Amino acid sequence: MATIDKTQQDAEKLAAALAAVKHVKDGDVVGLGTGSTATLAIQELGKMVRAGLKITAAASSIRTEVLAKSFGIEILDLGSLSVIDISIDGADEFTESLDLIKGGGGALFREKIIATLSKNAIIVTDASKKVKKLGAFTVPVEVIPLAYQYVFDQVAKLGGKGILRQADHKTFITDNGNYIIDADFGLIDDPAKLNISLNQINGVLTNGLFIGLTSKVIMSDGTDIVIFE
Ligand code: 5RP
Repeated sequence: MATIDKTQQDAEKLAAALAAVKHVKDGDVVGLGTGSTATLAIQELGKMVRAGLKITAAASSIRTEVLAKSFGIEILDLGSLSVIDISIDGADEFTESLDLIKGGGGALFREKIIATLSKNAIIVTDASKKVKKLGAFTVPVEVIPLAYQYVFDQVAKLGGKGILRQADHKTFITDNGNYIIDADFGLIDDPAKLNISLNQINGVLTNGLFIGLTSKVIMSDGTDIVIFE
């Protein structure tokens, strides 16, 4: 695997985030993602709100909600929304056909709801996230705790090697009170099929394959902004 220059990667994340927030207009309901790249976009939106931009927002995680509120961004109840004008979120991997793996930060369920409701679902990334085939990054599977062994067994039947996500030497708990199984399927030939198979397992809330949910990926390669749509 190619080594990644962290300073370069951070500069690319910022450039992509700054390009994305230009798409936000007065009056928009904005879906706010989670992770280091989404955070850069939220910080910029915060500055724009302080300068007079009028938006309301839905947050994909508790930490995003706290961050957005710290800038005075009004947060709506995600569950009450039927449509979101625009969302800005990061990704762990994406392909040119706009399939993604997300959920490295554990916020996949709310991120997926936001992407599903968004008229314009924008993903912001550095160049390291672009892949020919998804699967070098494991697929996060959010599982109701009392079904986790069953889900492990079913993931294994689909060819995945699962690990129960840990944080600070404890089982990681999502904002929804669930566990995450990070499943290694190797490079994935048919992500759309795997997405359906995973979601059909009883006890799975959702998984980190985002298929057909993205309007555009805004990527910085350090020199240019490259848009995939
Ligand atoms: C969180 C996510 C993030 O968007 C993804 O992990 C990318 O994060 P980062 O921008 O920090 O690389 O899906 O659940």
